[in-house]
Amino acid sequence: MKDKNTGINRDSDHSRRHFLKLTGYGTLGMLAGGLWPGLDLLAAAQTPDTDFEPDLDISLSARPDEVAIFPGSSTGVWRYHATVHKGDRARIVEMPRSYLGPIIKVNQGEKIRIRFNNAIPEVSIVHWHGLHVPAIMDGHPRYVIPQGQSYLYEFEVKNRAGTYWYHPHPHGRTGPQVYGGLAGLFLVSDAEEQAVGLPDGEYDVPLVIQDRTFEQDNQLVYLSGNRMERMTGFLGDMIMTNGMPDFTLPVSTGAYRLRLLNGSNSRIYKLAWEDGRPLTVIGTDGGLLEKAVQRRYVFLSPGERLEIWADFSDNPVGYKTSLVSLPFETGGMDGGRMGHGMMMGGRMGQNLLLPNGAAFSVFGVNVTQPVQTTYRLPDKLSEIGPARPRDAVNYQNPRRFYLTMRHMQWTINGRVFQMEEVADDEIVGLDTAEIWEFNNTGGGMMSMPHPIHLHGKQFRVIERAGVFHDGYVDEGWKDTVLLMPGERARVLVNFSDYPGMFLYHCHNLEHEDMGMMRNYYVKA
Ligand code: C2O
Ligand code: CU
Ligand code: CU
Repeated sequence: MKDKNTGINRDSDHSRRHFLKLTGYGTLGMLAGGLWPGLDLLAAAQTPDTDFEPDLDISLSARPDEVAIFPGSSTGVWRYHATVHKGDRARIVEMPRSYLGPIIKVNQGEKIRIRFNNAIPEVSIVHWHGLHVPAIMDGHPRYVIPQGQSYLYEFEVKNRAGTYWYHPHPHGRTGPQVYGGLAGLFLVSDAEEQAVGLPDGEYDVPLVIQDRTFEQDNQLVYLSGNRMERMTGFLGDMIMTNGMPDFTLPVSTGAYRLRLLNGSNSRIYKLAWEDGRPLTVIGTDGGLLEKAVQRRYVFLSPGERLEIWADFSDNPVGYKTSLVSLPFETGGMDGGRMGHGMMMGGRMGQNLLLPNGAAFSVFGVNVTQPVQTTYRLPDKLSEIGPARPRDAVNYQNPRRFYLTMRHMQWTINGRVFQMEEVADDEIVGLDTAEIWEFNNTGGGMMSMPHPIHLHGKQFRVIERAGVFHDGYVDEGWKDTVLLMPGERARVLVNFSDYPGMFLYHCHNLEHEDMGMMRNYYVKA
């Protein structure tokens, strides 16, 4: 039954279906029925709450669309569209000429209502990557809805200012849906950020980096379904920025805030400036650093964000440079970057034109006009506070997660995703801090990089081992941490505010879809 005024499905078939599945789930004795949100809670969440006064109330639909990317045929894509019911229309910023969804701009403390309508011909659900929201607002795949149905999100923005994003999360179909075009930025601002006076307006530039493959008729090509291809992950032969190939950013002789998102399915970028200037990093996944740091290059793996200060005030009009990805080794299995014989090149690495770790230009920068005044890099960007590992309840004994392959399947601690399954060692206490250790040292020849992402929380990277490069920025808040083969990392995370079931997974979307994902449960 649809509510006439809202279009929101009050009868919530999917809630009932999931409820039946949940109560019917008998094999996990440790999770008594009472731990799960029941039908009432889910159904209630699907009815707009009259006590919830949204500052921004929008509809967001995912639907088939066409975009003119190349001359000739337009490209069939899936695309998010938004309409504003209440609030400032300027909060929704369309990405011109792109399959990407609109940028949604909010402020910390605001209440947001999003009515998601699924108009693509398969199940979907939206996840707010990096946002700290209640479990039923997080887009867990158990909440997927079929074509023609709606899911209601209502939450308060608790995150600090930063570059977050949204994308689908149906189990097994996240890779193809993101690839088809379903992704968008979700930018949060707050008083602290506004006070520091960073480049704004046209000097604040979102840059979503992705790779795609197109066939002759300009249509997207995904994987053939070959298991080996999926084990490596999709690699496209064309680099797209903001949905455009051969992207060039025109700039003035001033300073810019560049917000980079790696929205690729599995490609990792080793970012550097082609002209040799260092990367001046001002922010990571969870917002601004305390102070800018400089790196010769920085790795950006799928799901991660990086904010860069780029100052062109010493460059003349006419100057050109580009952001490049430097060559790197990725270990055994990853797209055939030499060293492991014919098998890689011949069958396993589906993309010989542009393997993971190849060198290429990501986007160009052209200095096109002079400006008189320019922004100056603040000495202090934000207050992020110290990471205090001793606050962790398991300080002496971190929770360990091994990233390994088993029976031709990527796993976390030997396990793969089961929709309703949480193991004993995946239950954490509400409002406790813990140290989690991710370990990618066991792979040998069969190893690959794995960017590990936690839902619902930002964390601090407190320790790394086995790292033989200086391409990480661990100074700030993170929600995704890259582990190259041979590496180990410890993160400090506080499971605050929201009980319930959340995901942690590899953000190589093919790995995720194949089950390199698990639930963790925050127990009140
Ligand atoms: Cu970008 Cu499960 O997340
Ligand atoms: Cu996420
Ligand atoms: Cu992985």
